[in-house]
Amino acid sequence: MNASTHMSPGLWRLPNGQASNNDLSYWVELAKLLESGNFDGIFIADTLGLYDLYKGPENIGPALQSGAQVPYSDPSVIISAMAYATQSIAFGVTASVTYENPFILARRYSTLDHVTRGRIGWNVVTSHLASAARNCGLKEEIPHDERYVRAEEFMDAVYKLWEGSWRDDALVRDAKRGVYIEPDRVRAINHEGKYFSVAGPNAVDPTPQRTPFLFQAGASSAGKLFATKHAEVMFLPGMSPENVRKIADDIRHQATLQGRDRDSIKLLAGMLVIVDETDEKAQQKYNDFLEASDLDGVATLLGGWTGVDLSALADDEDFHFTGPGAVQSLVKTWSATVPGSDNVKWTKRRVLQELAMAGAHPRVVGGPQTVADQLQRWIEVADIDGFNFSHAVSPGTFEDMVKYLWPELRRRGVIKEEYKVVGGAARENYLEDGLGPRLRRNHPGAAYTWRKPEEA
Ligand SMILES: Cc1cc2nc3c(=O)[nH]c(=O)nc-3n(C[C@H](O)[C@H](O)[C@H](O)COP(=O)(O)O)c2cc1C
Repeated sequence: MNASTHMSPGLWRLPNGQASNNDLSYWVELAKLLESGNFDGIFIADTLGLYDLYKGPENIGPALQSGAQVPYSDPSVIISAMAYATQSIAFGVTASVTYENPFILARRYSTLDHVTRGRIGWNVVTSHLASAARNCGLKEEIPHDERYVRAEEFMDAVYKLWEGSWRDDALVRDAKRGVYIEPDRVRAINHEGKYFSVAGPNAVDPTPQRTPFLFQAGASSAGKLFATKHAEVMFLPGMSPENVRKIADDIRHQATLQGRDRDSIKLLAGMLVIVDETDEKAQQKYNDFLEASDLDGVATLLGGWTGVDLSALADDEDFHFTGPGAVQSLVKTWSATVPGSDNVKWTKRRVLQELAMAGAHPRVVGGPQTVADQLQRWIEVADIDGFNFSHAVSPGTFEDMVKYLWPELRRRGVIKEEYKVVGGAARENYLEDGLGPRLRRNHPGAAYTWRKPEEA
């Protein structure tokens, strides 16, 4: 996030905790570091409200004191500086279809796609915080599944703007004839739906990708239906590779039901890597992080993710057996992946420690061989395409990965050595199919594309 912290509250206290997110040089150096390691992209999460479900409802105190995802600044504003300093790395920027307006969002992403030369991705989210609803003109949240119905119409409207309102050869800059844009190659969209009314055309001429490269992380039935229709990359939930494999198989199957290829969606699992020269040093580093973490801040985030206020529950309760369903199911997935942990007591403190750095995502801690073995196991067993790596400290976590882990992955020949298209678009570099920067023909958005007559 463009915030004090994303998922590791309290670590700002460490000397190498996240640098100020208001400092552009932090973002530029991060982008250069990740590009030097051939990361496909930088993903920036976002919310539009505070986490306020801990120690009472609508209580913003714990979030403020711990700095748990606050301040939370606009993620799109920092992109152009990072893009200017790099060539090939992509940028995944989160924006909410529940609270944004299709025309204004389309204009912003078109602008971003131009200035990054096609390297922008959009993480399409329906948002989950009631505080966001109250910030954006609603008394309460729109019900979960209705948010996805609205999201469908939102996508329809933005595809029309990005793909259908300008012909590729509209902007001619013909000095002789005094024509900047051919008027008959730009048209209104006149979208009239249940939720949105958009006249169009898009404010901005066709960009390298037209539609930004699309990320999504729907996990519910409605969410998966939406994601398997629209997403080009999906973030999968799940704590073990065996569990993620089931989700990955299901997603690929659902994509085929939507008329898309099985492999048209790249699947990524969340992952935190804590690596050092040796297993012992990495474990020590993890322990030091845990020591610095702010468990009240973690409980604040958990409140927003699950709707459960942990302060109402006893400190020594064993969440393996009792407690709210959302917390119990987290404990069940952890205890299934950690041998012997069935016999220990899953107290509030223990639950929060598990969540302290990566939230409800898996982590691997160890020296280069240990981490490489585990990541390879994930790729093989879960049958995924890659990872969405989170951090404990930034840029420290990523510096460690490039320094300690990358040489081992190179030695094994299992890491990308170069971008497929240097200076290319996000879509080209993620999909690596040689089919260029535009939506693939079997993607639903491609049905709206207004091409030059000879390319139609
Ligand atoms: C890696 C990852 C990143 C996510 N980033 C965001 C985000 O930045 N903002 C947000 O509101 N939701 C985010 N989500 C939540 C998802 O958009 C989605 O709401 C969640 O996975 C639950 O699925 P459902 O909405 O289908 O119930 C993210 C989820 C994952 C797994």
